[in-house]
Amino acid sequence: MAHINSNYLNIKESYLFSEVAKRANAYKAEHPEADVIRLGIGDVTRPLCPTVIDALHEGVDAMAATETFKGYGPEQGYDFIKESLKAYYAEKGVDLDKDEIFISDGAKSDLGNILDIFSKDNLVLVPDPVYPVYVDTNTMDGREIAYLEANEANGFLPMPNYDIKADLIYLCSPNNPTGAVYNREQLAEWVKYANDNNSVIFFDAAYECFVSDPSLPRSIYEIEGAKTCAIEFCSFSKTAGFTGTRCGYTVVPFDLIRDDCVVNKFWLRRQTTKFNGVSYITQKGAAAVFTEEGKKQIAENIDYYKQNAKTITETLDRLGIWYCGGKHSPYIWFKCPDNMGSWEFFDALLEKANVVGTPGEGFGENGKGYFRLTSFSTHENTIEAMKRFEKAFSK
Ligand code: MLT
Repeated sequence: MAHINSNYLNIKESYLFSEVAKRANAYKAEHPEADVIRLGIGDVTRPLCPTVIDALHEGVDAMAATETFKGYGPEQGYDFIKESLKAYYAEKGVDLDKDEIFISDGAKSDLGNILDIFSKDNLVLVPDPVYPVYVDTNTMDGREIAYLEANEANGFLPMPNYDIKADLIYLCSPNNPTGAVYNREQLAEWVKYANDNNSVIFFDAAYECFVSDPSLPRSIYEIEGAKTCAIEFCSFSKTAGFTGTRCGYTVVPFDLIRDDCVVNKFWLRRQTTKFNGVSYITQKGAAAVFTEEGKKQIAENIDYYKQNAKTITETLDRLGIWYCGGKHSPYIWFKCPDNMGSWEFFDALLEKANVVGTPGEGFGENGKGYFRLTSFSTHENTIEAMKRFEKAFSK
């Protein structure tokens, strides 16, 4: 008889964003006349920029001729995109070997897949609230998880606790869901903790392009000592609008060694066995993000979303609602008005303003009573949503 992985019985029946979509769709089905605005899942709305589109077309044309056609590519990505990424990191003062960079179909997949090469006995440390993927993927494997309190008192940026001997640590900065950003000194403390304890930090940098203050780190490798203790995950989704196109990358430094094994080699072995790489066409498009023109065009899109974040935070300011994020992040994390619970506020916002957001509780215990809005919508919808929000919740 086949047995299932019973760890799946220990995760919530549906993934947070599927649950939010289900409830929003049910409301829409009951109220077909309602103009529902979705500021829940962090999904982009700006189209791919023209430079990327041109490169995608070039990729398609290459597939049309025998001389330029591509079959299987290198599982870890073509050199041309890894070289572009190497140069991108060099701009941040980080020197990488191109073979420390692995191209994938996105940060979420790699964040889950990386666990293949780590023992199920490892103690996992995650902040609470947290991106549910970190918790769910470890629960699926049956790993023990310890939680770090993130709250208003520590600005939702918890620091290491030497009483907990964690093996695998998840850090996301700028943070999903709170939008809070670690500074250099804080990240340096994490790097020290990880090196002292032989732990590995999984650093999720998916929102790095939203950091506009040059004193804030955009990569963990800007911190001395990080190459011996950290793996970095990033993606083109939020940087360049690839949520539907799919492309990301993971950096596994050669200097990261655990149990006398070079972690980079294990990841290469895992990827070459279980993954056939991202399509040539997609990698052509993604590499174009790093051309001068590409960089200019994606910066315009990021500014567009930042303008939305401003619309949201200005409304919260007027209503006197506590929040963080929104400055170096597309997410705004705030306290639910009138001490409402987060699902209670989800329903109230949907019913009174026809606006969908994400209940903080979906990200963990410490998210109870908080709520997340995303700035990834259009200007028109964000302005309209916040007008309705203000009307519904002003005293
Ligand atoms: C979110 O809304 O938190 C994002 O869509 C997460 C993701 O990128 O998977």
